Amino acid sequence: MRIILLGPPGSGKGTQAEFIKKKLGISHISTGDMFRKAIEEGTELGRKAKEYLDSGQLVPDEITVGIVRERLNESDCERGFLLDGFPRTVTQAEALDEILKEKGVELDAVININVSREELIKRLTGRRICRNCGATYHIIFNPPAVENTCDKCGGELYQRKDDTEETIINRLEVYKKQTEPLIQYYENRGILKNIDGGQSIDEVTREIGISLGRDW
Ligand code: AP5
Ligand code: MG
Ligand code: ZN
Repeated sequence: MRIILLGPPGSGKGTQAEFIKKKLGISHISTGDMFRKAIEEGTELGRKAKEYLDSGQLVPDEITVGIVRERLNESDCERGFLLDGFPRTVTQAEALDEILKEKGVELDAVININVSREELIKRLTGRRICRNCGATYHIIFNPPAVENTCDKCGGELYQRKDDTEETIINRLEVYKKQTEPLIQYYENRGILKNIDGGQSIDEVTREIGISLGRDW
């Protein structure tokens, strides 16, 4: 299957992607994760992307589309993929249409995860991530068994640099202006699935499954 996970910062795209990719055996492509990895490794892409991520602005479309095009051409994507955090502008959505057309494939579903603004702010300010394996936690909603330690690999947990209240507010504004129009874009295609993301992690997973015709 070829799926897009749409939704504001903190709506649970990354959290849900972990489960969906395993269940469907498809590749998880998170542009945010790709940029953060490039920044950590100090590559040219990382140097270009850093100031945008730190301030919560979007990385320019031509850079973002370029890395996604390259990634979708890798062989593992032939069995299907789950896009998380891409597309984020109408320009990116149109570029994706072109890429898929060239490959002769189509999208199966766009999953739009809806969560209230207050809840998003609570989720993002309490998020912690494993430095070693990237697993996501929340200090209240999804805490690790041992404080600051990853349940899966024992790695140390850290807070993302853009998860400060000021940058979160900026990211939510950027989402509203630049990404929200994509809801209509995919609604018009008839492939949009609206999900109530305000429920527990397991309930959201279940609702996504039903929207994809799976009872998992
Ligand atoms: P990106 O990494 O994509 O960040 P984002 O869209 O802001 O989304 P998040 O990762 O913050 O949230 P999420 O929906 O994955 O939530 P999560 O599952 O972690 O992008 C970062 C930056 O990269 C952008 O600002 C931009 O600069 C750049 N970028 C990326 N893509 C780009 C593009 N296409 N174009 C241009 N620039 C781009 O969950 C959040 C928290 O909530 C966690 O703590 C989790 O444990 C908790 N939680 C999850 N679900 C639930 C639940 N149901 N109940 C309670 N708690 C929950
Ligand atoms: Mg994420
Ligand atoms: Zn870990």
